[in-house]
Amino acid sequence: MLILGIETSCDETSVALVRDGMDVLGIRTFSQVRAHKPFGGVVPEIASRIHVRVIHALVEDLLRETGISRRDLDAVAVTSCPGLIGSLVVGVSFANAFAFALGIPVLGIHHLEAHIYAAFMNPEARPELPAVALVVSGGHTALVRMSAIGRYEILGQTLDDAAGEAFDKTAKMLSLPYPGGPMIDRLSARGNPEAYPFPRSLRGQRDRLDFSFSGLKTAVLYTVTGQGGRDRTPLEPTETNVADVAASFQRAVVESLVDKTARALERFEAKSLILCGGVAANQELQQAIRALAARNGVPAFIPPISYCTDNAAMIAGLAFHKQHEMNDLVSDVAASRPLGDRIKK
Ligand code: KG4
Ligand code: ZN
Repeated sequence: MLILGIETSCDETSVALVRDGMDVLGIRTFSQVRAHKPFGGVVPEIASRIHVRVIHALVEDLLRETGISRRDLDAVAVTSCPGLIGSLVVGVSFANAFAFALGIPVLGIHHLEAHIYAAFMNPEARPELPAVALVVSGGHTALVRMSAIGRYEILGQTLDDAAGEAFDKTAKMLSLPYPGGPMIDRLSARGNPEAYPFPRSLRGQRDRLDFSFSGLKTAVLYTVTGQGGRDRTPLEPTETNVADVAASFQRAVVESLVDKTARALERFEAKSLILCGGVAANQELQQAIRALAARNGVPAFIPPISYCTDNAAMIAGLAFHKQHEMNDLVSDVAASRPLGDRIKK
């Protein structure tokens, strides 16, 4: 089954052709980073307008490049939640019209479910279930127990900022360009992760699998501005100081994430550990998750970086497993929607 996937939930316009849930015949992703950079973050209205401008040409290019005729397509899959509502509407409207014109079915996909599915797109090694998944993106941070494709329970989630959001805001405080995650990742390699004792929130509450990054963000702010410090001097923005703050911040995020994931593995049976979402591209986090999995005797599954960040291959891939849900119209988009119920245990 050949599915055209469309992803426009945030600041990437991505389209992909995937056969039978696994075989990526082609993918085209247009990154809007340059347009949002002057504003230091994603501007929703600009994002929607760029999606409108580029989506049609991206699909045309993809079909031309792969030599696939639109008549060969069996279905269209599109991210319908969660995300920026205007951006989602662009993708869903395009998908509906495209599918209608071809007389093929269309399916709305949950963005976070697709992030998890990205870990299943390697034919050589697929996670065994049940699995614990740590989903870390720009808008979401959650620990999820997955018992089957389509069946998820939320073990814990962030009470305030998402991990990626914390990366982006910290980068901004350090006057680093947007998007901050990859910059902090790179700078941290040169910094001292123990230079600043930033907080690991909720660590004391061992049975609680939630996360909180707002205290960490405030601690970074106070360090940078000098607020709250004894001598109230702002951080001198030398290369070493900036790298030390970045590395200390990153260590605090990684330890918070890994600590709760370790607790999840202790409390819930899991045959695999999945790390996914944009922040899963982070090198220190990847290493820490692999080490945790090894300590627990479970295999770790982390998609390649291009499938950690937003992409349409994961959307088209997942849709293959949801053929029974396909219809002639996606009539619903949502800015936020839980992936599953919160576990009661
Ligand atoms: O999943 P994603 O592409 O988009 C959302 O669904 O939000 O995640 C984007 C987030 C951004 O906050 C970005 O800064 C972060 O992922 N990110 C990283 C790295 N690469 C991307 N964070 C830390 N280290 C990275 N290498
Ligand atoms: Zn995402």
